[in-house]
Amino acid sequence: MPTNSLTVTDNRTGKSYEIPVDECGTIKAMDLRQIKTAPDDFGLMTYDPAFMNTAACRSAITFIDGDRGILEYRGYPIEEIAEHGTFLEVAYLLNEGELPNAAQLHKWTDDIRYHTYVHTNIIKFLEGFRYDAHPMGMLLSTVGALSTFYPDARHVHDPENRYIQRVRLMAKLPTIAAFCFRHNRGLPYEFPRNDLEYIGNFVNMTFSIGGKHEPNPVLQRALEILLILHADHEQNCSTSAVRAVGSSAVDVFSAVSAGIAALYGPLHGGANEAVLRMLDEIGSRDRIPGFIEKVKKGEGRLMGFGHRVYKSYDPRAKLIKKVAYDVFAETGMNPKLEIALELERIALQDDYFISRKLYPNVDFYSGLIYQAMGYPTDYFTVLFALGRLPGWLAQWSEMIQDKEQKIARPRQVYVGPERRPYVAIAERP
Ligand code: CMC
Repeated sequence: MPTNSLTVTDNRTGKSYEIPVDECGTIKAMDLRQIKTAPDDFGLMTYDPAFMNTAACRSAITFIDGDRGILEYRGYPIEEIAEHGTFLEVAYLLNEGELPNAAQLHKWTDDIRYHTYVHTNIIKFLEGFRYDAHPMGMLLSTVGALSTFYPDARHVHDPENRYIQRVRLMAKLPTIAAFCFRHNRGLPYEFPRNDLEYIGNFVNMTFSIGGKHEPNPVLQRALEILLILHADHEQNCSTSAVRAVGSSAVDVFSAVSAGIAALYGPLHGGANEAVLRMLDEIGSRDRIPGFIEKVKKGEGRLMGFGHRVYKSYDPRAKLIKKVAYDVFAETGMNPKLEIALELERIALQDDYFISRKLYPNVDFYSGLIYQAMGYPTDYFTVLFALGRLPGWLAQWSEMIQDKEQKIARPRQVYVGPERRPYVAIAERP
């Protein structure tokens, strides 16, 4: 008769234990603690660097089936959301759990519109950065600095307060991101225009010269789709950072700033930037086989390939490839696309990549699109951050309300020296 439990026999002691398996197919790691070799033994722990097989939370936000290439936000397939949704609708869906009706969307949009301006001291703060400061470094520190402008954000257990801080961040991140863009170019900051939609306002703040910018609706919609595709991806590195930092009950600006820092890395959001640098390094089609050989020898990675969760394909990459063609029809072909397509074709036939289930991920084509839109390489990850913000906020809010959560505090297996007496400096070798 099957029961929902696991019988574990500890061969060190011969004792057996019954460990419950819950309806989600998980066991509680704490249930292993009872497995001891002696009464003073600490008890059994699991060792799981990089959380390869450990669920750190229950979440109702995003579902991924990595083997079948499925991604859903609150149950809605990413393909349908990307085709029909707007970014603010998706942000609402992720944060509030349901698609908004007309009145709810109106209020959400208005609330965000109302908060797009930043304190003028933020401008002074940004002026402290060198002209060539990496925009991700500027972004993460400026978002962190917002916590000093909104000290009320420390009331993380108050639902109304959580709402207003999330609205503030949704509203101000595009403004800060655009200011970072202008700073790098030595251009005067373009202030938010609240007669424009969310994406249109951001594009205007980045590209407007002398108050004028002729928006291209195809490019604007393409950017919106890219942001939607990045909006959440369950417990990835940056979201885990937001949750872990937020679990200390710090304000959301500080927690999201940690998320931006995590996203900055080339193995995570920084991959879109790394892909373009890689394509530049390859330079021409005839150099692709040599590059692939280097990757196979372990001398570097094929950036934009591989994923911890997706092992058949990344559904976002499929959608992005389509967006790329829409954008290039407007802007003219990005010459690097040819190299990317050939790289993809060769890699997908090569046993090294096939056997390791390495496929193009969301970042393989996004950089080419951003470049065609006129964004510089070091700015790509900022665009990823703009897209990911609703997910970080939704995950943060879910974590705060989750009664099972506590301050994040992993265990370790200590492998350092045994206890020893302090050595005076004169006696050290
Ligand atoms: N190029 C070449 N080999 C690779 C790659 C790659 N891009 N990715 C993984 N491998 C190999 C790796 O060397 C290892 O081989 P072996 O078993 O012989 O040692 C095997 O595949 C498994 O790799 P792993 O590092 O254990 O896999 P992981 O799940 O820890 O890493 C990853 C996932 C995304 C960090 C990794 O695939 C990678 O570094 N990709 C390139 C960077 C990238 O595109 N990142 C964006 C990820 S998607 C957007 C996001 O979430 O930010």
